[in-house]
Amino acid sequence: MRVGVLTGGGDCPGLNAAIRGIVRKGVEVHGFEFVGVRDGWRGALEGAVVPLDVPAVRGILPRGGTILGSSRTNPLASDDGVGRVRETFAEYGLDALIAIGGEDTLGVAAALVGEGIQVVGVPKTIDNDVAGTDYTFGFDTAVNIATEAIDRLHTTAESHTRTLVVEVMGRHAGWIALHSGIAGGANVILIPEQPFDVDQVCAWVENRFKIRYAPIVVVAEGAVPKQGQMVVKDTSLDEFGHVRLSGIGEWLAHEIADRTGKEARTTVLGHIQRGGTPSAFDRWLATHFGLRAIDTVKDRDFGTMVALRGTDIVRIPLAEATAATKTVDPALYSEFGVFFG
Ligand code: F6P
Repeated sequence: MRVGVLTGGGDCPGLNAAIRGIVRKGVEVHGFEFVGVRDGWRGALEGAVVPLDVPAVRGILPRGGTILGSSRTNPLASDDGVGRVRETFAEYGLDALIAIGGEDTLGVAAALVGEGIQVVGVPKTIDNDVAGTDYTFGFDTAVNIATEAIDRLHTTAESHTRTLVVEVMGRHAGWIALHSGIAGGANVILIPEQPFDVDQVCAWVENRFKIRYAPIVVVAEGAVPKQGQMVVKDTSLDEFGHVRLSGIGEWLAHEIADRTGKEARTTVLGHIQRGGTPSAFDRWLATHFGLRAIDTVKDRDFGTMVALRGTDIVRIPLAEATAATKTVDPALYSEFGVFFG
């Protein structure tokens, strides 16, 4: 078989480990050939491919980013998109495609399967918001980076007796905020799933000062105040209809400073959470997903996605994985409320 591999959407640590797992097992066990599709769905639309063989994947396991490049191109945004993907399949003699991505990339994969194109999905994203899998790779690394940042911010916040607001990624889901906030001992954690009350946040902040500690507030970029709306960087939309987020941290620090009369500053972690070398867990998970994804192609089980359930890797329908975003359960969030304030 001749198999295309692409990585789409925001990059994350572990993508190269997944590509390596796919190619090593595909070549050495199944005798397959590969092409690398450049920059996610852009390469599939434009016929932009690169050679992808065992020498090409040597040494990439610990490297962040993706050797194939990525983009937020949406082939379904143009009328002839599906036809152009078919042409790329024909031009390079592809029998199947492995799409490694988050909800947008996998949503396109599910739609293409409906058009008779043979695709298998692999879930990745630092946001951990793909349904049907306990974890996506990239998440563990991002949580470790955010936790280390929170640890560092504690000491400087204490020295200056000020509030430090840490803005982390998470458009619709607060997984990074919740996990890093709990691991880092934050005093307030705000997630997109639960609109927050600014007065309550200030009460928690004041409480922290009363016991002579400096408050650390972790806020997901997609979090919204109860009486307000999402803060965006600019209102232009990408091809999947998303605005660029970031700004809630700055806004909240101003509100806290105004209402409490005490200094508050913001740190926006941004793309630092997505860059650099993957954690051991993400390397392991990405590699395991890669091995199982190529087995899935071998079995011609198209229209499915590999997923982690407990310690097992299973296959689930792409349609099921892309039907909804996996968000933080309110009961789980409130369980950690004992640490707020
Ligand atoms: O999709 C993952 C993600 O990291 C989101 O948390 C964030 O909102 C977005 O990507 C940022 O994307 P970009 O780098 O394209 O601005």
